[in-house]
Amino acid sequence: TRTPVNVTVTGAAGQIGYALLFRIASGHLLGPDVPVRLRLLEIPQAVKAAEGTAMELDDCAFPLLSGIDITDDAKTAFDGVNVALLVGARPRSKGMERGDLLEANGGIFKPQGEAINAGAADDVRVLVVGNPANTNALIAQRHAPDVPAERFTAMTRLDHNRALSQLAKKLGVSVTDIRKLTIWGNHSATQYPDLFHAEVNGRNAAQAVDDQAWLENDFIPTVAKRGAAIIEARGASSAASAANAAIDHVFTWVNGTAEGDWTSAAVVSDGSYGVPEGLISSFPVTAKDGRYEIVQGLEIDEFSRGRIDASVAELVEERDAVQGLGLI
Ligand code: NAI
Repeated sequence: TRTPVNVTVTGAAGQIGYALLFRIASGHLLGPDVPVRLRLLEIPQAVKAAEGTAMELDDCAFPLLSGIDITDDAKTAFDGVNVALLVGARPRSKGMERGDLLEANGGIFKPQGEAINAGAADDVRVLVVGNPANTNALIAQRHAPDVPAERFTAMTRLDHNRALSQLAKKLGVSVTDIRKLTIWGNHSATQYPDLFHAEVNGRNAAQAVDDQAWLENDFIPTVAKRGAAIIEARGASSAASAANAAIDHVFTWVNGTAEGDWTSAAVVSDGSYGVPEGLISSFPVTAKDGRYEIVQGLEIDEFSRGRIDASVAELVEERDAVQGLGLI
């Protein structure tokens, strides 16, 4: 039998945690033959709720689940961790300024980065889901200098999946007919879902759509503002779809992208496409041999250039703000 993989989930008692843990335990994160050991990190007030979720996990009798530990201590949570899913974050409350939001999250992601640096397994992979995800990932990464920077990623796979679904609907095709879609930039309203490199049954997606007005006034805003639309409709934020995207992100990272396709993930920039080196920004990425790599050499048209630059400018502002606060 294989040694279990240590998977740590922060914010385990939250909405996304509730949708995520059962899929991890049933083998969807890493594959149907990989046993997992779960570590749940919560704040002290939510430990009891996490214990309740753990009771339900027990009650599923998942064959692949070899144990569950619950803690409110980051060092304990990340000791020996192989896959870290950083979901818990400080949400923006009414009237909260961006600086306060970044500062509150710095107070979470700095110690978590330090704990990962101190105790994680050599092969650790980190996915930040908690918002502002890109900048939270940057904070954690900067406090884990002994971990290769490429192991820190932030989630734009939900945006990617949303874009796939919107495009498939528009063209009356299946999501499996679409390849090479890209989300660029920040996981925020400035993100840029790019159809110009995407293919639908081998044909260029932007040409297949042939409707720039739809692209600019419908597709892009629908994808970028989908989170707000879900809150409006459901009375609660997207949780199951976010959990599903986190599963997809890690599964692809470990198991690879299909030949001739790519996906989207926020990874540390190597300076490609004019994105300042070191920023954690969303790119088209392939996964091979357990590594995400930025797809190189794509031509960027003028419209796309403007959109990418605007989202990257927002990431630069966030980075400068956390730098100004002494968080990195
Ligand atoms: P939630 O509020 O239901 O749960 C968050 C949980 O995190 C709570 O149980 C809270 O106690 C816990 N938490 C807070 N600080 C913590 C800390 N220092 N250590 C451990 N746990 C801590 O929120 P939900 O709906 O589960 O969302 C979680 C995050 O994911 C939010 O920041 C949300 O904005 C973000 N999100 C990101 C998406 C993406 O595409 N990147 C999509 C959807 C949500």
